[in-house]
Amino acid sequence: MQAAAPILSADAHQLRHGGWLVDARRRQRFTSALHNEGWPVPSLPTDLTLTDDELTLSRPTEGDVEGLVAVCQDQEIQRFTQVPSPYTAEDARGFVTLARDGLEEGSQAPLLVRDHDDRLLGSCGLVEIDWNDLGAEVGYWVAPWARGEGVATRAARMVCHWAFKEVGIERLDLEAAAINPASNAVARKLGFTLEGTRRRSAIEGATGEPGTERMDMHVWGLLPGELT
Ligand SMILES: CC(C)(COP(=O)(O)OP(=O)(O)OC[C@H]1O[C@@H](n2cnc3c(N)ncnc32)[C@H](O)[C@@H]1OP(=O)(O)O)[C@@H](O)C(=O)NCCC(=O)NCCS
Repeated sequence: MQAAAPILSADAHQLRHGGWLVDARRRQRFTSALHNEGWPVPSLPTDLTLTDDELTLSRPTEGDVEGLVAVCQDQEIQRFTQVPSPYTAEDARGFVTLARDGLEEGSQAPLLVRDHDDRLLGSCGLVEIDWNDLGAEVGYWVAPWARGEGVATRAARMVCHWAFKEVGIERLDLEAAAINPASNAVARKLGFTLEGTRRRSAIEGATGEPGTERMDMHVWGLLPGELT
């Protein structure tokens, strides 16, 4: 099958009309099948902003590089996510580019979480979008100084709501290491169902140095209507 090509674009107005992408997606999927083409992938707005009373989520920009470098040195973030270790300014710039390209190509939606004073608190978004099956995976990390105050739960709730209501995603996945109680607690609080455990399926940390432990990963799933 050919690689998927971004042939649709959607602006925030279109996204606000829930289902627009899915209707377009289904139409194009049918047309693609007829012509034996790869699945078309809608793009997402690069100016996407999600907000509630306390938090604002938007994509990272060049101005976030310094803040990202400071936060991503954290051992827990390096242990339980795929951020490189050590984390450099080049890595942060790569994340800025990846986020913009990911939105434009509709392949992912990595956003940064800030408070209303514009302080960087964390990251939360869709780390992978599967347009074939209308599924996506949610991922997050929170700066050590902002943990335990509901930031991950609030941010992920906004992302899940947006994914279901505005993008038209029909299933969300979340994977958390069994030895990561905080992340599993976030999934549970959002209404995700624990569907199983992938035994020894991930290497602790992104670099996979010799001797690094393998971790059991809890697999959580959320369907529309289950978000709490
Ligand atoms: C996981 C993480 C994102 C949570 O962020 P957060 O903003 O502190 O999360 P919240 O405050 O929304 O919720 C955390 C929940 O975990 C619970 N929790 C924290 N540590 C816990 C522990 N050791 N045992 C049990 N529950 C724990 C908290 O009590 C809270 O639940 P509550 O509100 O019912 O009390 C943050 O700890 C983090 O960034 N960790 C490192 C990176 C990471 O693990 N990312 C996730 C990869 S899947």
